[in-house]
Amino acid sequence: MCGRPISVDDADGHADAGWIPVCGLGRLKAETIVRVAGRDLLLIWNEGDVVACERACPHEQADLGLGHVAEKRLFCPRHAASFDLSDGAITAGWPSPPLRLYPVRITGEQIWLEVPERRSGR
Ligand code: FES
Repeated sequence: MCGRPISVDDADGHADAGWIPVCGLGRLKAETIVRVAGRDLLLIWNEGDVVACERACPHEQADLGLGHVAEKRLFCPRHAASFDLSDGAITAGWPSPPLRLYPVRITGEQIWLEVPERRSGR
């Protein structure tokens, strides 16, 4: 269940040493998975915690924004492997690196994400 992607440019405020405001807690609680447009990242509401991760599944690059969250795990929509949202580990037996997680912080109702450096152009 995903709403429309949001752009970091939609958010109020400004970047703070790599931290960007992404969305409010209320929106994330309502949608469970929020795509961060232009960043290939997701925010996830995980039973009371906020988790940020890469959007592409590390197994075969499926869009994890189309997956679902259950029992503190993110399930991939393609092969149904799942990732532990505390450390990114994939279901045992799958030939894949772990899901990459990113730091988040919350000030009031605002969720902030520490974004990775953008790769320079070719
Ligand atoms: S693409 Fe996600 S588990 Fe295979």
